Amino acid sequence: MTFRAHHLLGIEPLHPLEIATLLDLADDYVGLNRQQEKHSDVLAGLTQINMFFENSTRTQASFELAGKRLGADVMNMSMQASSIKKGETLIDTALTLNAMHPDLLVVRHPHSGAVDLLSQKVNCAVLNAGDGRHEHPTQALLDALTIRRAKGRLHRLTIAICGDIAHSRVARSNILLLGKMESRIRLIGPPTLIPAGAADWGVEIYDDMKEGLRDCDVVMMLRLQKERMDGGFIPSEREYYHRFGLDAEKLGYAREDAIVMHPGPMNRGVEIDGTIADDINRSVIQEQVEMGVAVRMAAMDLLARNLAEARANV
Ligand code: NCD
Repeated sequence: MTFRAHHLLGIEPLHPLEIATLLDLADDYVGLNRQQEKHSDVLAGLTQINMFFENSTRTQASFELAGKRLGADVMNMSMQASSIKKGETLIDTALTLNAMHPDLLVVRHPHSGAVDLLSQKVNCAVLNAGDGRHEHPTQALLDALTIRRAKGRLHRLTIAICGDIAHSRVARSNILLLGKMESRIRLIGPPTLIPAGAADWGVEIYDDMKEGLRDCDVVMMLRLQKERMDGGFIPSEREYYHRFGLDAEKLGYAREDAIVMHPGPMNRGVEIDGTIADDINRSVIQEQVEMGVAVRMAAMDLLARNLAEARANV
C-alpha cells in the first residue's frame, strides 16, 4: 500500500501511486455499498466531525454516510448556528473542537487556504471538502474513479472540462489529478471564465465547443459559480447556453462513446440540457454520486490508518 498523506488537503501534494491506492480501495467499497449489509468497523471508536461553512448537499451527505458505514461516530456541526456567527475566528472554533478529541475533521470553507491553515492547528486528520476556488480533492478522486470504471483507464484520454473554470475548485483539482495521470486536458469556456495563467497548466484552451469537444472521451460540465462572481462574466444565461451549454448537437462532436459528467448541483438549461443529463447511455452523473461515497470511505480509511501509526510513534 502506498499512501503516506496525513491530511487530504488537495490533489497537488499526492503522488500518482497514492491516488491509485485510494481508487483501488474505493473500488472495494463500491462493492460493499452495493450489498444489503453495508457495514464495516474500520473507523469504529473514531470520531468524525463535519464542519461545512458553505452549503452542500452531495458532499456533506456522502461524507456523513461514508463515516457511518465505516462505524465512526459522526457529528455534523451546524455552522449557521455556531459561534462563528458571534464572531469567533476559524482557528478558535478549530481549537475548541480539537479539545473534544476528534480523529477526522471534514471541512468546507469559502476561503481558499482556510482548510490548510486549520490543519496546522489540530492533531487529527483533516479532509478538505472544498475551499473557495482552490481545491476539492474528493470530487476529483470520485470523478477519476467514475472515469476509470467507464473507460478502463485514466491515461491517454482526452478530457474536456467546460464552462466556469475560473471560479471552480472542481476544475482545479481535476486538472491536477488528470495531469498527474497523463491524460490530455482541454478547457472550454468564454475567455472571461478561463483563469489568467491557465495557458501554463499544460492544457489546451478553446472558446468554441465544436472545436474543443472534437474526439473527446470525457465531457465534464461545470456550474456557473455565481456566488463567487463579482460582476458580469457572461452577457446572459440564454446566450451562454447557446454557445457553451451541452446539448445533443454539441455532444455530437465528441467521440461516440464519450461520457458526460457534472459534479452537481446542475442548472438544467444553463450549462446542460436536461435530456442529456438524464440519458443513461451517456451521462454518468448518478455514478459520480455513488462513487463519492466510496471514495470518501477510502480516504477516511487510509487517513485513519496513518493517524493510528503516527499516534503509536509518539
Ligand atoms: C461543487 C462544489 O461545491 O465545488 N459541488 C460539489 O461539491 N458537488 C461544484 C459546484 O458547486 O458547482
